[in-house]
Amino acid sequence: MNETFLIDTHSHVDMIEGKTIDDIIANAFTCGVQKIIVPCAYPKDVDKIFELVNKYENLYGLLGVHPSEVKDWDDNLIDKIKEYSKSNKIVGIGEIGLDYYWDKSFIDLQKDVFIKQIKLANELNLPISIHDREAHKDTFDILKEYNKNSKIIMHCFSGSVEFARECLKEGWYLAIGGVVTFKNAVKMKDVAIDVPLDRLLLETDAPYLTPVPYRGKENEPAYVKFVAEEIAKLRGISYEEVALKTSENAQLIFNF
Ligand code: NI
Repeated sequence: MNETFLIDTHSHVDMIEGKTIDDIIANAFTCGVQKIIVPCAYPKDVDKIFELVNKYENLYGLLGVHPSEVKDWDDNLIDKIKEYSKSNKIVGIGEIGLDYYWDKSFIDLQKDVFIKQIKLANELNLPISIHDREAHKDTFDILKEYNKNSKIIMHCFSGSVEFARECLKEGWYLAIGGVVTFKNAVKMKDVAIDVPLDRLLLETDAPYLTPVPYRGKENEPAYVKFVAEEIAKLRGISYEEVALKTSENAQLIFNF
């Protein structure tokens, strides 16, 4: 394909309330977004995500359990995820990691389940979409110790330029979303300028974190174009270059 297109590498399309999946995909297409990766957060949603991405050509799935939901973790999920991962519509494990923002009362359990899922991703040789909220150090240390062969995507990257460089040194990728368009998001804009283009991915994290000019409304994959536009503007390069490079990266990492 010669024309430039975008890939939304992290979008909870199943959680968008105001639109149907058909409309979400059609809007995305109109805005040049051709592929959408749908992460899994809840154990109960593993089947749902698998069915959803198999139903729509432009959707791909990640399977895993979000750190805030690990109380519902069940070791039987490992076999289920292994089975579902035989499908080429499942392109990674996620979103997994640590979240010390919502609840710090079960950190040990968060770590246990995170490590189990890293090992699972390694065994399947699938990339991992990492959720790290106010847990930079522990997330980094666990990944460094346990990850052997999976490509790492720091989803909704929220650290400093210094932390970004630490992650890049490990060979990891940074996914940037709508926050970069917020006027006061100075740290995020610095990261978006500093990260090498071959380590950058775009995402929306829809329905959350809607970029300007729709901040405050429900987010959807089409809006990833505002993220691309902002990053192009910040770096002083063309929109096409951002689109081309980030889509190339996504295709390389997720192997579709
Ligand atoms: Ni997410």
